[in-house]
Amino acid sequence: MNSQLGHNLISLKTIDSTNLYCVRNLQSLPSGTVVVAENQTNGRGRNGRHWHSPKGKNLYTSILIHTQPTSQLTMFVSQAASLAVYSTVIDFNLNDVWIKWPNDIYINQFKVAGILSECHKLQTDSLAIIIGIGVNLNMRQEELKQIDKPAESLGSILNKKIDVNHFLQQLINQLDELFHEIETNGPDRIYTLWKSASPIIGKTVNVFISSAERVTGTVIDLAYDGGILMQLASGEKTKFLAGDVSLAYEPK
Ligand code: BTN
Repeated sequence: MNSQLGHNLISLKTIDSTNLYCVRNLQSLPSGTVVVAENQTNGRGRNGRHWHSPKGKNLYTSILIHTQPTSQLTMFVSQAASLAVYSTVIDFNLNDVWIKWPNDIYINQFKVAGILSECHKLQTDSLAIIIGIGVNLNMRQEELKQIDKPAESLGSILNKKIDVNHFLQQLINQLDELFHEIETNGPDRIYTLWKSASPIIGKTVNVFISSAERVTGTVIDLAYDGGILMQLASGEKTKFLAGDVSLAYEPK
């Protein structure tokens, strides 16, 4: 990666989506760029969903890094990103924080943050990875109810205003450290920490393969590549990858 995260910080008032901003400017933005916006008019979530992005309330950021296709950083970027958000939230002395596979951050049964990573080829042989992170920081209960799934914000739980810039700085520091760890010592520690923050092994879960197809099974393990190993109700053992399915299961 070769460059510190956040050395190029782009602060926008309003944008359709910080991820889309990165995609449009992919060739000119250096690796390590952090884009942050006060609001998004077309915030995007995983699986084509919308990400609720009211003005000045939350963190909406995209972090751009250049990697090599075969590097360990490329394979573990998503695990590292969810772990960085998880650790930043934990540092607010919050209990019952966990990662819902593959990379949603929950407090109890409420989602507080989500990650949308995308990968694009550059003109060189490198890849550009855009890590889009949305964290609910200061939405109040009335606003949280507008989200179609149970959601919370840190400020509402802690009953205080959370400084968006401070949260972003802490998050960037965490992510920088984790990327550095992968590059110097390999991904084992990140994989172990990510797995222990994701309490899903042994649970019965519903896997949504498409809007029309759903299977049920028991989780056997979380794989090194971030996939989920399951024993289906039919007895068949199979692995699902993060980009292909979504899950429903009870919190820990
Ligand atoms: C999800 O859980 O569905 C992922 C949500 C990701 C939202 C963030 S907000 C900043 C960045 N820009 C976007 O349009 N989406 C991501």
